[in-house]
Amino acid sequence: MCGIVGYVGLRETPGRELYALDYVLEGLRRLEYRGYDSAGVAVVADGAVDCRKKAGKVSSLDAELAANPLPDAVLGIGHTRWATHGGPTDVNAHPHVIDHGRLAVVHNGIIENFAELKNELTGKGYTFESETDTEVAGTLVADYYNKDAGRDLTEAVRLASQRLEGAFTLLAIHADHPDRIVAARYNSPLVIGLGKDENFLGSDVSGFIQHTKQAVEMDNNQIVTITATDYSIIDFDGNPVSGKPFEVTWDAAAAEKGGFNSFMEKEIHDQPSAVHDTLLGRLDETGHLTLDELRIDESLLRSVDKIVVIACGTAAYAGHVARYAIEHWCRIPTEVELAHEFRYRDPIVNEKTLVVALSQSGETMDTLMAIRHAREQGAKVIAICNTNGSSIPRESDANLYTHAGPEIAVASTKAFLAQITAAYLLGLYLAQLRGNMFADEIGEVLSELQAMPEKIQTVIDGADEIKAMGTEMGDTESVLFLGRHVGFPVALEGALKLKEIAYIHAEGFAAGELKHGPIALIEPGQKVFVVVPSPRGRNALHSKVVSNIQEIRARGAETIVIAEEGDEAVAPYANHVISVPASPTLLQPLLATVPLQIFACAMAEAKGYDVDQPRNLAKSVTVE
Ligand code: M6R
Repeated sequence: MCGIVGYVGLRETPGRELYALDYVLEGLRRLEYRGYDSAGVAVVADGAVDCRKKAGKVSSLDAELAANPLPDAVLGIGHTRWATHGGPTDVNAHPHVIDHGRLAVVHNGIIENFAELKNELTGKGYTFESETDTEVAGTLVADYYNKDAGRDLTEAVRLASQRLEGAFTLLAIHADHPDRIVAARYNSPLVIGLGKDENFLGSDVSGFIQHTKQAVEMDNNQIVTITATDYSIIDFDGNPVSGKPFEVTWDAAAAEKGGFNSFMEKEIHDQPSAVHDTLLGRLDETGHLTLDELRIDESLLRSVDKIVVIACGTAAYAGHVARYAIEHWCRIPTEVELAHEFRYRDPIVNEKTLVVALSQSGETMDTLMAIRHAREQGAKVIAICNTNGSSIPRESDANLYTHAGPEIAVASTKAFLAQITAAYLLGLYLAQLRGNMFADEIGEVLSELQAMPEKIQTVIDGADEIKAMGTEMGDTESVLFLGRHVGFPVALEGALKLKEIAYIHAEGFAAGELKHGPIALIEPGQKVFVVVPSPRGRNALHSKVVSNIQEIRARGAETIVIAEEGDEAVAPYANHVISVPASPTLLQPLLATVPLQIFACAMAEAKGYDVDQPRNLAKSVTVE
């Protein structure tokens, strides 16, 4: 939640036409998916801090800047907010300018002890303009700056950081120091970008990807000071530490809309390559599955007696798919738990438990906290993550990266398919290691997986009908989704997509559960999507779902059936049949999810909503 950008450059660098503000605004636009309740920027110029901020999206800030321009500067910070303490107003927007207009701070996270600190600072005579915890943190920095830190900005941020509880990335600039930005990181994301005679800070690499691919990871409890030509990191005790340099593997074009109406639409179309890239390089020359990056003791993986998958939202639904596959292939009991519930129910995990954490952003605080809890109990954690250098892979024992590229739309699409793909790989790898499957059986599934990108492309290419349905159903108030087996998490995901971007009531059910209550919701005209498993293979499952369709049709439901091509059995009971290519039942989510994403996207567009930035949401949920 919240996007943060910092930029400092040398004015005299030949060829540099942009000033700090241009870089900061460009970074904010790229990070806007992290929060878009308000936005603001501050620069140091002519010995003073100057700031503009506005409730609303970065476009509102652009208008404000057009009306009230900021002076040219070589240094600036910016923020796009997802409100926590204090509503989304101009006053609560960041940056907060403190110390008689000489210090400006932006912050991502929540300062849990802000009330106590505010009392203490009020007692010292400070007053506050906003309702935010950020202004309190900034005032604490100012207090240290003018007293104990002897006007050393890095030291002031360090001393303040030692007092802050909760989660924070805090950037500070001061009129006395027109050449530097100081930033502290604790439980909230921050990466450093290294350019030539210019350096950057960003909540993630999108904040500077246009200008450099050279980045540095920071750990928690660290403070970085950047100038145009240098950076230095210390820990909260003041000891020098080194960051971990890495090169960003995707380019700026991957974070552009590429001619599509929205990022979501583009990311739906990216799915064949997201799955393809996630499968890439996983086999050795003998066809043996090798997950090189999964640096974890093999004997440990052999001794695992339980797997717990933890994740939130869409990633948790990918976890449900993973469970069906892992249990079937590896015969290891597997549970799936919402990360925010996991650690509060005193879960039974120990050295023999393997925890698999799924996260696109790698910054979801609920998932991060669950990982920490699991590791404290002795469990090993493998992260399936899409973001290099983020907190979740850093705090896990081993990582399996998805290669979906940057996902900008708040509604997850390609990351979901990539997570499922990576989970299949993990399941097959465990089965190979533990001898649960023969090599040819594993090879068969892998070839089916390799055929998936082309099949996903077929679904996307044939999506005109489902798109038209989404557009036509713009005034629908409720849609239900049914599925069984791996079709159940697909149904849940279909419903989440509609809630999230089309703001309508939508619910996903296990089809077998219908008769235990939800069938009472069916009335004439009720739209119901049904995800039908392949008629081949698990035949009993298929006929049960066909019976479920009959039951709801008999009560007047309008049924939209996602079924394998050539599945004639569903036709008599379906108002609409959306065909997907044939695939093994366990792999079907990679195909059946796609029409549901396209439907939600079309409906939200028809309703005139901002598909990429739905209300009240943010892309990465970095608060608990
Ligand atoms: O970054 P993560 O995968 O950890 O995010 C988890 C959820 O917040 C996320 O999947 C969310 O449910 C999506 N916005 C849904 O489309």
